[in-house]
Amino acid sequence: MSASSYFLVAAFVALVASQATAFDPSPLQDFCVADMHSPGLHMTQWAMAVNADDFFKAAELDKPRDTMASKVGSNVTLINVMKIPGLNTMGISLARIDYAPSGENPPHTHPRATEILTVLEGKLYVGFVTSNPNQLFTKELNEGDVFVFPEGLIHFQFNPLTITRHAAVAIAALSSQNPGAITIANAVFGSKPQISDDVLAKAFQVEKGTIDWLQAQFWDNNHYKF
Ligand SMILES: *[C@@H]1O[C@H](CO)[C@@H](O)[C@H](O)[C@H]1NC(C)=O
Repeated sequence: MSASSYFLVAAFVALVASQATAFDPSPLQDFCVADMHSPGLHMTQWAMAVNADDFFKAAELDKPRDTMASKVGSNVTLINVMKIPGLNTMGISLARIDYAPSGENPPHTHPRATEILTVLEGKLYVGFVTSNPNQLFTKELNEGDVFVFPEGLIHFQFNPLTITRHAAVAIAALSSQNPGAITIANAVFGSKPQISDDVLAKAFQVEKGTIDWLQAQFWDNNHYKF
């Protein structure tokens, strides 16, 4: 091989390797506090104007949440960059999740984050499903146990009466300042405007009437808006 072909091969290998490991770039500065008054969180404040409160949220995660307001019997309190501007560019966020007896955080995905969850109170049955061909991984968690839901995969947490008759509480950390959440049933049956029932009847292999009934249900999510 000539020197130039060696160079081309080396450049190609470097390109492939860099794409295979491509991810969020590391921050270029100590912090980049989000300007909450700017639409879209693109602007940043100068360090001079930053203070400790930009990295702080007062007593938010110590309170038990109302789990009866949501049909699924759970309540997610997410602390992301919208709640703490100093999280901007930091690639991390935190959530408290309260579960009623027989409540669940229904199957959902975070398009931008891996999640690590620990049970503070009670017991949970948790699981996630891999990309096609869809292998299910599940675990029964006791207080203090820790479980990981890999980025983008559909996962759930359930507080079944067969395991406990008590409420449960978990804390989760997520590897994005803004992990996003797509609740599967809500996204499929409760989108606005609705997905055509022809599309869903074919996808789910049921009668259109079954889809129409599902679409007529009330699909509110279990995230606490505060
Ligand atoms: C979550 O809990 C808060 C406070 O207890 C309550 O105001 C809110 O309605 C609940 N949200 C959901 C979605 O259940």
